Amino acid sequence: MSKQFYITTAIDYVNGEPHLGHAYEKVITDVIARTHVALGEEVFYLTGLDEHGQKVEQAAKDAGMETQAYCDRLAASWQSFVKKLGLINRDFVRTTSPRHKDVVQAVLNRLNDKGEFYKKTYTGWYSAKEETFLTEKDRNEDGSFDSKWGTVTELEEDNYYFKLGEHQQWLIDHIESNPDFVQPTNRRNEVLGFLKNNKLEDLCSTRPQNRLSWGIPFPFDAEFVTYVWFDALTNYISIPAAHGDDTVRSALQLGASSGESLSLWPADVHVIGKDILKFHTVYWPIMLKAMGLPLPKTVLVHGWWQKDGEKMSKSTGNVVDPVAVIDEWGLDAFRYYVVRELGIGPDGNWTDESFSNRYSNELANGLGNLANRSLSMLGRYRDGIVPARHDELAEEAARFVGETVAHLKSHNLQAGLQSIWGLVRRANEYVDKTAPFKLAKDPTQSERLDEVLYNLTEVVRILGVLLWPFIPESAGRIFQQLQLEDSPDRLALAEWGGMKAGHQTGKPAPLFPRKDLAPRN
Ligand code: MSP
Repeated sequence: MSKQFYITTAIDYVNGEPHLGHAYEKVITDVIARTHVALGEEVFYLTGLDEHGQKVEQAAKDAGMETQAYCDRLAASWQSFVKKLGLINRDFVRTTSPRHKDVVQAVLNRLNDKGEFYKKTYTGWYSAKEETFLTEKDRNEDGSFDSKWGTVTELEEDNYYFKLGEHQQWLIDHIESNPDFVQPTNRRNEVLGFLKNNKLEDLCSTRPQNRLSWGIPFPFDAEFVTYVWFDALTNYISIPAAHGDDTVRSALQLGASSGESLSLWPADVHVIGKDILKFHTVYWPIMLKAMGLPLPKTVLVHGWWQKDGEKMSKSTGNVVDPVAVIDEWGLDAFRYYVVRELGIGPDGNWTDESFSNRYSNELANGLGNLANRSLSMLGRYRDGIVPARHDELAEEAARFVGETVAHLKSHNLQAGLQSIWGLVRRANEYVDKTAPFKLAKDPTQSERLDEVLYNLTEVVRILGVLLWPFIPESAGRIFQQLQLEDSPDRLALAEWGGMKAGHQTGKPAPLFPRKDLAPRN
């Protein structure tokens, strides 16, 4: 089996409902996944839930529920969220599932066999309220601990440590010689700066059972559970192992699979937010190296969303509920806005005003209007029948296609949409300049009208192809209205000349109905 394009999101803590940040990460990952489908590759997109650890145990307690029952209830709502976003994920991982737990234990056993763990006693200042050890950095200027930590006591604790420190120089070398490993460049510089200016401490990989019980038992010492990040990162290989990936299964000595045998590892892209950079570009590569597995090709790091210039927070009500936005404006409007508004890298700011502006200017009046008037005129003047091929816009369209594909391949999704809208604008100008409604009134201009209508219909078709990774539902509707049998999910179809003379197109219907833009309460 040839290797598939394997792309993942972070797995979300199941301690609350999904919000804009989670939706954004899943949508940009979906756009990249669909790009590779459109390039003709087999694609495996993985997303899911991180269900162990303190945060989840606490959330279940607060909800007055047994922890597994709490996870099951929330998992159902997260799975329906994934459906709502129209993702093409091929699996959904839950870290409490046996298929995942088994692989985590295999990883731990394997690393232990290789001598990567040692047990050590740690003495430190412990906040029982926050259930965490504090460091010198947590002290106030006068040396005391803030009241937010509750009572802080000195505590002695045994734990298992994973030998991270030994691999520091190897990791620096790897990042320096693989410029695509951490994207974008400022995040790559951030992790290199961290590695060059700090001595890597070994990673505490367990929690004593009596302090945290909600975790995967440490396979060779029943007094401990596995540290939640060790467990969570492993999802990226546990699911390939479950699908019979031989690279993972042989490194972990799991034996051959009796069922499927997909080839997934190494991942092509891990998409994550900026706050979890260190886990993915320091801990994870070293864990993989110690297991004898190849590293992911790229860790792609996005920024964080704010709303109205402030951190989103449930307690102040300053949140964007993606489900409510989708219900009101449609899925594609949501997908379009988040990708168009924020490039992958910096932080972004959601405002309802910019959302509705983009909806009406770019979707309804830009793309929607172009598609609608092109098809309407073809219907009105030529009974919807495509005239003979004409190449007036062919060269320019090819340039926009080339730009868009290049941006998509290099994960510049926002720039990809800007190129597509370059073509939308060009075609709308073309309508204004050529004025087909005037040509239609003059029988001597009939041939010119044919030419213009061909160019417009062909541009609309090409737009359907280019838009599919971003707004697949609308791309499908464009193809439907053109009465094309193909699906727009192949970038090869963006070549000029796909519209055949004599082809009967269908009736236009607005892609993005104009909204009453009165301010919303
Ligand atoms: N469970 C860990 C990840 C383990 S991956 C092996 C976790 N979960 S999380 O639910 O807190 O975050 C999941 C993802 O959502 C992270 O990539 C995080 O950066 C992203 N976001 C959370 N809030 C966000 C915004 N406000 N904006 C954009 N992304 C944000 O971390």
